Amino acid sequence: MTDSLTVRDNRTGQEYDVPIVDGTIRAADLGKIKATEETPGLAVYDPGFVNTASCRSAVTYIDGEKGILEYRGYPIEQLAEKSNFLEVAYLLINGTLPSKAEYDAWVHEITYHTFVHENVKSFMEGFRYDAHPMGMLMASVGALSTFYPDARNISDADNRHMQMVRMIAKMPTLGAWSFRHAQGKPFVYPDNDLGYTANFLSMLFKMSEQKYEPDERLVKALDVLFILHADHEQNCSTNAVRSVGSSQVDPYSAVAAGVGALFGPLHGGANEAVLRMLRRIGSKENIPSFIDGVKNGNEKLMGFGHRVYKNYDPRAKIIKKSAEDVFEVTGTNPLLDIALELEKIALEDEYFVKRKLYPNVDFYSGLIYEAFQFPPEMFTVLFAIGRTPGWLAQWHELVQDKEQKIARPKQIYTGDRQLTFAPASERWR
Ligand SMILES: CC(C)(COP(=O)(O)OP(=O)(O)OC[C@H]1O[C@@H](n2cnc3c(N)ncnc32)[C@H](O)[C@@H]1OP(=O)(O)O)[C@@H](O)C(=O)NCCC(=O)NCCS
Repeated sequence: MTDSLTVRDNRTGQEYDVPIVDGTIRAADLGKIKATEETPGLAVYDPGFVNTASCRSAVTYIDGEKGILEYRGYPIEQLAEKSNFLEVAYLLINGTLPSKAEYDAWVHEITYHTFVHENVKSFMEGFRYDAHPMGMLMASVGALSTFYPDARNISDADNRHMQMVRMIAKMPTLGAWSFRHAQGKPFVYPDNDLGYTANFLSMLFKMSEQKYEPDERLVKALDVLFILHADHEQNCSTNAVRSVGSSQVDPYSAVAAGVGALFGPLHGGANEAVLRMLRRIGSKENIPSFIDGVKNGNEKLMGFGHRVYKNYDPRAKIIKKSAEDVFEVTGTNPLLDIALELEKIALEDEYFVKRKLYPNVDFYSGLIYEAFQFPPEMFTVLFAIGRTPGWLAQWHELVQDKEQKIARPKQIYTGDRQLTFAPASERWR
């Protein structure tokens, strides 16, 4: 067997041998296929990059058919159970697990960069009273580039490290302050005695008490959620970070683009839709008629199905367990019973089985967030905080990858050509 593709161009009768490497052919090799010397070479039309690899990456592995997700080779189940978010962040960015000394130094660095410049606080206060927290987060992450102009020096390894530490450290501060602003509550400064996730909860919920003491079970559940969202290879927001980062801009600007991409309902917003759906169903008796409606094509069962996973999304299994832990603290949410029943029925129903539709990460996450008393607008902010190490790991890989170029897709031009322009004074006579 030869690892190549033989292509015959029926326009010219010419045959080409295109090498196959890692299950891909190089688009540039297709570019050598031309109808005439003058015409442009053959290109691939692939809106949404449905079947185009944009990079080589060693960060995250997904096998959607088997329901496998691994960060740097470690199964997500093991990381969620035995690691913590900051260790996972280290792993994603550095590629290996830290030694004790490396871990301690990493946690220390992140803990001591959680504060932001006071001017960040004043401009965040300037947002409208009803500003969406994702808009605030996107703007404030982008604005960090003005506070750290040295971040533009992306060719320096120490400098890159510093900016990645800053961003992971400050994201919860910015996220929590976006939330407090919407609530009209004073901003809470970071508490460096608390761990990463506990400190985030403190900045979100602390009022007049001297010290905020979160329930450890809630801290663990939120930490697990951050781990589950930490990376997911070349998704829309990661692609945005890479695409903007490919211009060699500073990482704050690149990550702000990622936050923008995540803001969209097709990406970060599905968990909110699940909650709305569960509320509308209202009680278990209404499930059969709801399922009939889905099967008749009236609507979708939100939180089910995935472009990549054609099996149980491994993150959904872990989240289901986290939901139980959280409800132990907060009391159960009646919507959980509806969700469990829906899942049971759907997993046995031929419609869903045939189409390989299983619960995805969003099916249970909204329920957990609601138990924390987060309003739906905050759900995507939580996702963004979790995804930050993944965006940075991918950005870091990009800037060191000699094969990468500025992202610049081709187009198929469908407009007019060679029109003759008449000035407005003639056209409007
Ligand atoms: C995630 C999603 C966009 C993936 O879409 P996709 O890979 O393009 O899959 P398709 O839309 O081609 O779906 C294949 C079939 O399953 C059906 N299907 C997919 N998701 C479904 C759902 N959640 N409920 C009911 N039917 C669904 C489609 O109607 C289609 O049926 P058909 O073959 O009879 O036309 C889709 O499953 C979806 O919309 N799910 C609900 C939203 C959601 O939970 N999003 C979060 C993703 S993390």
